[in-house]
Amino acid sequence: MHRRAETRSWGPVGAFALACLLCGSCVSAQTRASQTEAVGKYTGPGSCASTSCHGSVLPRTENDVLQNEYSTWIVQDKHSKAYDALTGTLGRRIASILHLGQAETAARCLACHSLDPPPAERSRSFDLSEGVSCETCHGPASGWLGPHTERGFTYEKSVALGMCDLRDITKRTETCLGCHLGSEEKYVDHEMIAAGHPMLQFELDSFSAVMPRHWKATATPLDPERGDPLYDVREMTAGEAVHLRQSLLWLATRTRGKVWPEYSELECEACHHSLTPPEQSWRQARGYPGRRPGDPPWNASRHTVFREVAHELDGADAEQLDSGIAQLVELMSRLDPDRDQVATTATRAAQAADALAAKMRSANYDRALALHLLQKISGDADEISSGGEQSAAQAAMVLQSLFVACDRNENLNNSAEVRAAITSLFDQLQNLSAYDPARFAAEMRRVNALVR
Ligand code: HEC
Ligand code: HEC
Ligand code: HEC
Ligand code: HEC
Repeated sequence: MHRRAETRSWGPVGAFALACLLCGSCVSAQTRASQTEAVGKYTGPGSCASTSCHGSVLPRTENDVLQNEYSTWIVQDKHSKAYDALTGTLGRRIASILHLGQAETAARCLACHSLDPPPAERSRSFDLSEGVSCETCHGPASGWLGPHTERGFTYEKSVALGMCDLRDITKRTETCLGCHLGSEEKYVDHEMIAAGHPMLQFELDSFSAVMPRHWKATATPLDPERGDPLYDVREMTAGEAVHLRQSLLWLATRTRGKVWPEYSELECEACHHSLTPPEQSWRQARGYPGRRPGDPPWNASRHTVFREVAHELDGADAEQLDSGIAQLVELMSRLDPDRDQVATTATRAAQAADALAAKMRSANYDRALALHLLQKISGDADEISSGGEQSAAQAAMVLQSLFVACDRNENLNNSAEVRAAITSLFDQLQNLSAYDPARFAAEMRRVNALVR
């Protein structure tokens, strides 16, 4: 897990947003407003911090929750520092370039960097500087705060009283994507990225590991008693399906925006790269298949890698998704894409992704399938690498996730070598403008040779 924290620090990562299908208690201001009378208000992380609640220093074993969640969050989890990012040098500069005044008072920034409900939904005075705290993800606590400490009180009862059901992978992914992809309500666009904001990228399993998890992963989500030994593969596959679906819905929403096409939807390095003499240009050597030379292509990274997983689990749905995405690639890789056609095609493709998400959530996973996916995806080196830097990043995260799952359940005999080879995939992603598909493909082939 520690490894992942290291490998995830490869620099500015990307930005998007989604139309979150909410679980009923988190995130959307409108849903929240209509729910709060019934289920409660936000109380702030201090309510959870006592050592006998979630503030234990070490994990406990007598209960089905660890009870050191607060300690993990405050010490290791960047979410507890999210507000500080706004008051730091970079945060201040971004806000100043965008003429927002101070970032820590700008609603546009606070929306993702703190828990910032309207005053009427705060049950006591609490502090924005606590960052992305417990209730940002778990929902307003005042409804269940008291009762959930009683003996015999179940998780389901808390959910009925307004706690967000994060054991459900779909809802969990949607919650993360609310900030790690964005939506109409809160987003990171190219204007913000040009001002200095990191671009947003996401993969549920890798990001949960880096967070790090403050819950017993093996006991979620299907059968809390028996556990799910391949929980990370399930999170990766279902999470990627939901990620793709939400990004397509967000693209459809963006077609109604003032700025079109929105540059953060496109492959960054199509515009951001150094020029070379013609004989050294891999772009000219490759040509511009399917588009006019010089038009920037759409960033299809959420499909490029996921496609491999989809075909393994449901060929028919995967075919349908492929054809929708192929149309979208064609439509979007032009200077002035037709808004209506893009919206219709993206919405249809999102439905195919949704069907796959449902199947992936409840599919049977075993180590053989995880190993097969590891082989298959690393074997698709050329196709994935030529999809651009963000496809490469998605592949690196997915391969890491599959490797960890295979290796945990039964060590690979060359574990150290595979680990090192995957780390060198991440090393290739340090500088977006210098991304070289041939080099990345060669590294992928090295991984593939080791896992055959
Ligand atoms: C849609 C949600 C969203 C909005 C809106 C948003 N951010 Fe962020 N911000 C993020 C996420 C997610 C990250 C972490 C990205 C990663 O590492 O993958 C981040 C990272 C950052 C960082 C880098 C932090 C670090 O530790 O290096 C800064 C600085 C920052 N944001 C400032 C701002 C400012 C200033 C605004 C308002 C203009 C803003 N953000 C608005 C989601 C958002
Ligand atoms: C960035 C989102 C996020 C934040 C912030 C967060 N959590 Fe969580 N938490 C999760 C997710 C995701 C899970 C796993 C799903 C699950 O098992 O409920 C989880 C699981 C838990 C569980 C186990 C629940 C169960 O029985 O399944 C507890 C207890 C918990 N969190 C407490 C806290 C506390 C206390 C804080 C604040 C100090 C906090 N969380 C902050 C996302 C978050
Ligand atoms: C309310 C918005 C919000 C939600 C919901 C949210 N995050 Fe974040 N996340 C952020 C922000 C903002 C940062 C950047 C914090 C910083 O660097 O100061 C961040 C940072 C992270 C990082 C550190 C990234 C890095 O580059 O080191 C990880 C990992 C992460 N989030 C995972 C998750 C996961 C997994 C979920 C869902 C369970 C989730 N987040 C939900 C806003 C959010
Ligand atoms: C269609 C072309 C295009 C695409 C695609 C594009 N950008 Fe830009 N970007 C620009 C232009 C033009 C500027 C302004 C450059 C200037 O003022 O010199 C810019 C500015 C920037 C800057 C600030 C300039 C700097 O040198 O620091 C960053 C950072 C940036 N873009 C990142 C990205 C990222 C990340 C992506 C992909 C998510 C992306 N861009 C996609 C055209 C593009």
